[in-house]
Amino acid sequence: MEPTRRIKIFDTTLRDGEQTPGVCLEAGEKFEIAQMLAKLRVDVIEAGFPVASPGDFTAVAQIAAGIRGVGVAALARANQKDIDIAWQALKTAESPRIHTFLATSDIHLQYKLKMSREQALETATEAVRYAKKFCSDVEFSAEDASRSDWDYLAEVYSAVIAAGATVINVPDTVGYSTPDEFGSLIRYLAERLPGGADISVHCHNDLGMAVANSLAAIVNGAGQVETTINGLGERAGNAAMEELVMALLTRREHYRACTSVETRHIYRASKLVSTLTGVTVQPNKAVVGENAFAHESGIHQHGVLSNRITYEIMNPETIGISRSNIVLGKHSGRHAFEERLKQLGYDLSPEAINLLFVKFKELADRKKTVFDKDIEALVADKPEIRPEWYRLAFHQVLSGSQTVPTATVRLDTSGESLEEAACGDGPVDAVFKAIEKAIGFTVNLKDYNIRAVTSGEDALGEATVWIERDGKTFSGRGLSTDVVEASARAFISAVNKMLAVCGHPSSGTYDAPGRLSPQPY
Ligand code: KIV
Ligand code: ZN
Repeated sequence: MEPTRRIKIFDTTLRDGEQTPGVCLEAGEKFEIAQMLAKLRVDVIEAGFPVASPGDFTAVAQIAAGIRGVGVAALARANQKDIDIAWQALKTAESPRIHTFLATSDIHLQYKLKMSREQALETATEAVRYAKKFCSDVEFSAEDASRSDWDYLAEVYSAVIAAGATVINVPDTVGYSTPDEFGSLIRYLAERLPGGADISVHCHNDLGMAVANSLAAIVNGAGQVETTINGLGERAGNAAMEELVMALLTRREHYRACTSVETRHIYRASKLVSTLTGVTVQPNKAVVGENAFAHESGIHQHGVLSNRITYEIMNPETIGISRSNIVLGKHSGRHAFEERLKQLGYDLSPEAINLLFVKFKELADRKKTVFDKDIEALVADKPEIRPEWYRLAFHQVLSGSQTVPTATVRLDTSGESLEEAACGDGPVDAVFKAIEKAIGFTVNLKDYNIRAVTSGEDALGEATVWIERDGKTFSGRGLSTDVVEASARAFISAVNKMLAVCGHPSSGTYDAPGRLSPQPY
């Protein structure tokens, strides 16, 4: 029998994942996701594309300086300026990696780069040689590799390996490949390239085959796979980490390959990324979707009750979903609450537990039964990690079939309170308009969503608001048993995020400091 090979996971949630339309993470949020990725024990975190913006640079620099026990990579196009800036951001990392890329397909060379094949080969080799001056670990990606001429591709990879590349990445940039074709390409390269560099793959999901293509690549010799949590990424996204890791684990006899990922953190990592990005996970999504372990039909339920393996190929506990049905209520004490948090896999400081316990008690007063999903929502709803410009202090809404919906809000901002009232098409519209009056500028609302965290008339409502400025989208989330309050909180959270990145319209500053200090957590 073949020995089990270890496949490295290069996670690009913070780089390609952040290229998901409508996603904009700020440095503190990226750091939080990086901490989770380190806990998951991925091999490399691609922290960002430092030349892209000052925010991206800061995020990469913070992750490089603060995250240990895992490689940290930064993306750079194949030119000296990008590589210089990537290195400046990366240089304090324990195991830094410069990831440089250049397209190799004739389509990209002709229409995008306007370069000949010879020029591209020279540019790629020169970039790797230059990156090597700073960093011993250099990855080279041939963008659009799957639509490139195979002989030419092998020539480029051989040249960059000779120049010092330690990893050569084969992207299916536009998600065009099929598993048999992509597997053959990887075999072709593995048989021709000189040793000394890992073969990596980076598959997009345009035809829904990103994970299948990545698995075919593993079978044919790839040693690293690039993935994102929840499959985020450009257009239809990248190969989903949770799906790839669980496919290798569940079918280990078949693939004879494993990863170092701590699967029990997968569910919470998926939740965290969904909360911070504002991108919800579809209910029927493999592994982490709401329905992934739900059994609707009587025949299935009966089978699972007799023996779970009748209809379940994975144990939900393996990815950190608790099976127990314990529910809490207003008589539950701090000890029971703390125990439940532990059983759900949260490892929180005593201060955080104290704060959460207060929120739990408030919730239990309004709601008869507090389910695990409510507790997960409370944990996700932690105080802002960045200084906030505005905080909701009070709101009141008048609405009904004979009344024009009217809202009054009071917002705290440094040293003062701003109180305004406004009418709207409905109570939520009225509260948004009142907030706009209080902050003194209008907001470009792109989308709004409200959902119940659990079922029942006293369910906790989770609102998400997406707003836009300077071509960037910012999402905010709010939680309450009162849907108008949840909506107001979500709106203010999105505004605070936008101000942290773009500055306040009245001050015209970029990166203006926030005004209220963050609450402790
Ligand atoms: O999809 C792609 O080709 C990329 C490269 C930069 C690796 O994201
Ligand atoms: Zn990509």
